Amino acid sequence: MSPNPMPPEKTSHILVLGMGGTIAGLAPNPGKDPLSYKAGELGIEALLEKIQEDIPGELKLVSRQVANINSRNLTEPLLSLLGQTVMESLANTMVRGIVITHGTDTMEETGVFLQLTCGKYAQNLGKRIIITGAMLPANAPEADGPSNLLDAIRWASTPLDNCPGGVYAVMAGRACLAMDLSKRHATALNAPLQASPSSSAGLINPSWLLGVKAVQGAWSEDLPIPKGEEWPWVEILTSHAGSRPETIAQWLGGGVKGLVLAGSGIGGFHDAWLTPLGEAAKQGIALVRTSRTGGGLTYPDIPEKDLAGCMASGSLSAPRARIALQLAINAAKQANLVGKSLTWQDFFARIAVLPVIG
Ligand code: SIN
Repeated sequence: MSPNPMPPEKTSHILVLGMGGTIAGLAPNPGKDPLSYKAGELGIEALLEKIQEDIPGELKLVSRQVANINSRNLTEPLLSLLGQTVMESLANTMVRGIVITHGTDTMEETGVFLQLTCGKYAQNLGKRIIITGAMLPANAPEADGPSNLLDAIRWASTPLDNCPGGVYAVMAGRACLAMDLSKRHATALNAPLQASPSSSAGLINPSWLLGVKAVQGAWSEDLPIPKGEEWPWVEILTSHAGSRPETIAQWLGGGVKGLVLAGSGIGGFHDAWLTPLGEAAKQGIALVRTSRTGGGLTYPDIPEKDLAGCMASGSLSAPRARIALQLAINAAKQANLVGKSLTWQDFFARIAVLPVIG
């Protein structure tokens, strides 16, 4: 898989990468039923044409279609392709910043993936990567995609003394670190933003900026991007009333390398899982506890002492913890191949303790 090749651009520009999503969606009957639509129908060029008049004349844009999907169908090889495209583009001195249009359903996964694999490099180069999307299709009367895309392009090209390089997200006139982004509402226009106040795209809140710098200070080294076939198989399992031991037992000996346990409350899971989880740990399956609540922190040894080797996810939601665990397992494997004796826990611990922007 490779995005369509482009002749090299010789002038300084913002690169806009299209991944699909509702922002590129079309509804057959947009006036009557804008929520009945197909995502990933329009190409990135067509999205940029809609905002052409509002782009400052001196700002050069170059676009590239990486994919055009409904992001619920996001695959790990596609994440690898996006990550490699971003890394190569960051290295290009002509690229000032990168905007990514993406479906909102799994922006959360892509946001944390880019932070953990490209965040330090972007910060060191002083370049911003901005993810954006939309909740309404491109032909809906009140479509939010054009203003989100415009904000993302402005944010990617804002002078650096306002805000450092790194991986951000912009939706509904507000910005946050992409790793803080999560969709927590099915339909609201600001659904894909974190719950706590962060910043507006035009005006940076100083306490938010301090939070960004704290996260960036704590993140010392990017993790390797797994090659398509290197991604370890990791599943998310939700603990609930009536959970059964079989939910865990069926994964034993079947090739799964990790389980993310979306527990209740502060990340506790049903006692019915205890015995098969002990067996999973013995088999070397990586275990991470998180919370199904959608907010707050999951600490180690709360509510009970953790099973040996099991880690708590800190502020990571289950979908983010899953990506983080996959990257941690892969990073340990790559380190072992060059003779460094590091475990997935060594890498995961660096991620789970990243500060939370309040
Ligand atoms: C998608 O995630 O591709 C569809 C939903 C959306 O973009 O809001």
